[in-house]
Amino acid sequence: MTQETRRRLCIDFGTSNTAAAYRVGLAEPVIVPLGQSGPAMPSAVFAGEGTVVVGHDAVHRRVQAPDAYEDSPKSRIDEGEIELGDRFWPIEDLIGAVLRHVHQTALRHSGLPAFDSVILTHPDKWSERRKGVLRRAAERAGISADRLRIASESLAAAWYYVYRGHDVTGDERMCVFDFGAGTCDVAVLIRAGADGFTVTGSGGDNNLGGRDLDARMIRWVHDEAAELDPELSARLRAPAAAIALADHVRAAKEALSDTAQAVIELPGTQRTLLLTRREFESMIAPFVERAVELTRDAIARADAAGTGPKGPVIVYVTGGTSSIPMLQSALSSVGRVARIGDPKIVVAQGGLLRSTNVDVEEAGGVPQNAARPTDPPRSVTAVDAAARRIAFPTVPPGTVISGVHARSGQVVRAGEPLATLDSPSGRLTVGAPVAGTLHGLDLRPGVVAQAGAVFGAVGPADLRPEQWAQLHRAPAGLTAAQPPQHTPPPQPRTAPPQPVGAPAAGYAPPHPGTQPGHAQPQAPYPPQPGYPPPGPAGGQQVPSSGVNTYGLAGLIVGILGFPLCLGTIVGTALTIIGINRAEGRRDALLMAALGVNILGTIAWVAFGIWVLVSG
Ligand SMILES: Nc1ncnc2c1ncn2[C@@H]1O[C@H](COP(=O)(O)OP(=O)(O)OP(=O)(O)O)[C@@H](O)[C@H]1O
Ligand SMILES: [Mg+2]
Repeated sequence: MTQETRRRLCIDFGTSNTAAAYRVGLAEPVIVPLGQSGPAMPSAVFAGEGTVVVGHDAVHRRVQAPDAYEDSPKSRIDEGEIELGDRFWPIEDLIGAVLRHVHQTALRHSGLPAFDSVILTHPDKWSERRKGVLRRAAERAGISADRLRIASESLAAAWYYVYRGHDVTGDERMCVFDFGAGTCDVAVLIRAGADGFTVTGSGGDNNLGGRDLDARMIRWVHDEAAELDPELSARLRAPAAAIALADHVRAAKEALSDTAQAVIELPGTQRTLLLTRREFESMIAPFVERAVELTRDAIARADAAGTGPKGPVIVYVTGGTSSIPMLQSALSSVGRVARIGDPKIVVAQGGLLRSTNVDVEEAGGVPQNAARPTDPPRSVTAVDAAARRIAFPTVPPGTVISGVHARSGQVVRAGEPLATLDSPSGRLTVGAPVAGTLHGLDLRPGVVAQAGAVFGAVGPADLRPEQWAQLHRAPAGLTAAQPPQHTPPPQPRTAPPQPVGAPAAGYAPPHPGTQPGHAQPQAPYPPQPGYPPPGPAGGQQVPSSGVNTYGLAGLIVGILGFPLCLGTIVGTALTIIGINRAEGRRDALLMAALGVNILGTIAWVAFGIWVLVSG
């Protein structure tokens, strides 16, 4: 098997989320769409009636039997067996169920018959015993030992950093700071010659993660609720309410990385609490201080070991919790903070990048010094190969976007519906021409679709806006949504268009905290920065009133002017202009104007004939 054809899958099995990516030869890594609204899926398991369901299915079933549900099998890896439902389950069976699901999803998505190697990543500090559990879990998942490789998360992240065109040069050190849901892992790496990295120090805390922040916020919610109503706090502790509250709190926390305030719904009540970023920051300050301290300690340990340079530190932040702005600014006191790629998936992508070394390495051991990947540095040409700008194909004149079912950042499969269009000949579905992450999506209901207009890009998750313009174009697929005989009447052109910035039908808002009815500090569908707006690339806006003014004038003049023959003539003329302007699209207003003026004309013609006949 040569380097050019080897098919690899990397699975980053995390405390709360599992992400995966695969790669064929030296092509761009492809992220496996595991999540419902993002690339990762929950690592959760639900064990009921002798079977184990995983991911979103497990999350949905947890209310049925909370004691059959475990949201984080990884954090219970030391327990050997855990009790779920009415029996004990070996932990490797539960982790194996998650890995099996991911492996099978990746095979389906890639269309490949098998992967030549499957790489599982793990925290640097994991003992051989834990890695042994991971290996046995892989076996249970049907991943044979000869294909299995394991790799440290920090090295995977470091290679991703290099793959994206950055490097650690001169005296610099890289500190990979991975703040996930369950743990905070810190590793200090230096370049080992030109060909590898060496870990010179590590640290962190296995009991510090995003879930601790969630727990702190839940405490705050209970305190606030108790002040509002002493009964309320007790009601929020009921099992179903507690589960829902945990979800609302986590969503609010994630929203606060982008917004100034978030609303937390109190389940089972009509009440909500507003949490500002400032309050949130004062709540999490001790955790942030602790994370910075862990980072300093790891660097100090590396310095004390006396190996390698002691120059400037690059703090490469990975893991979902590192998205918190306050944390990033606190870490800037330690070194230059770098955030490259989506922090929740860089490990899954980076685990694919080590080349020959990883393939000859024994599954049992991961050398700290790994070979430099043979991948060429990322260039526009490499991006080009995997990404496309998407444009409307030839569409009938007057075709209007009626619904948008996708959003920027979403992972799509080739052919997956992105939007529906109402055309004079019926409803059409627009599908993605290639698979990947959607970028800069510019589709809004009420806008006329113009053939050839670019409305987004599909490609790797970290495709940068400045690269979009250089991509090849690909026309979106277009299919009839319904057979013409059942086609519903086209969207009337007089229907008020959706305001720019309004969420599209079927559009999933990024955070529950921004759902309608909640405080919305930011537009839920913001314009995409750097992406060409409507104009040569986007659609053409329907006149903002949305009302066919000629049709309306034709109706009014036709009615009021009927007593004068001229009124009917002018009304008819205005109606005809209105019909022309609507490019063949008829709506109730136009039909009414037409009807009134036809009746007026018939009445005047009959009157003329009667005058002539009667002399
Ligand atoms: N935008 C955000 N702001 C703040 N926290 C976030 C954000 N996005 C995700 N998180 C948090 O990050 C955590 C998940 O991150 P990640 O997927 O990296 O963890 P993990 O890999 O499952 O955990 P670990 O690495 O500890 O095993 C969750 O606690 C989640 O709430
Ligand atoms: Mg992780």
